[in-house]
Amino acid sequence: MAVNFSESRTKENLMKAFAGESQARNRYTIAAKKAEDEGMHTIAAVFRYTADQERAHAERYYALLKELAGETIHIDGSYPVDQQETLAELLRAAQHNEHEEYEDVYQAFGDAASEEGFHEAASAFYQIAEVEHVHEERFGKLAEMLENDTYYGGGSVTKWICTNCGYIHEGNQAPKFCPVCRYAQGYFLPYDFACYRGE
Ligand SMILES: [Fe+2]
Ligand SMILES: [Fe+2]
Repeated sequence: MAVNFSESRTKENLMKAFAGESQARNRYTIAAKKAEDEGMHTIAAVFRYTADQERAHAERYYALLKELAGETIHIDGSYPVDQQETLAELLRAAQHNEHEEYEDVYQAFGDAASEEGFHEAASAFYQIAEVEHVHEERFGKLAEMLENDTYYGGGSVTKWICTNCGYIHEGNQAPKFCPVCRYAQGYFLPYDFACYRGE
């Protein structure tokens, strides 16, 4: 059933998604600051990296609202107060929200857009849902390592990269200080999470 965009549910869903992504970006940026304060620089980097992707999602949804430029869209929505005390709890909260976006919210928005005949919007919802699934998994793995205290050793990780200088360490434990640049352990990232590995 083709629907006029200005009277569509999709218009509202795009604005809800824009609001949700915008808040996710800020929540992750705030969480990154907390991680920095605790010396967990690579957890901070993952939060910032993900925050940037949420900005990209917001930008995509916003672009799809362009034909309503100058108008105001009213939405009702529920948004989380994720101010948990520990990084592990913040990661779990983020994981939970990403899961909801992936499994429920964006599937429903995609289905509504398909029904209303807005196929570009439908694709955006479905494709971004897949990205949120990746976010969910990444946050979950990090949370688990913090909960088990295996982020820097004692678990299955046997390779870390110093995110300051690029030194790669293999062993059972990330070094307390990087032997190359002398930066603290908080700059070591389990290698599986590193971007641009060239493998
Ligand atoms: Fe997103
Ligand atoms: Fe996400």
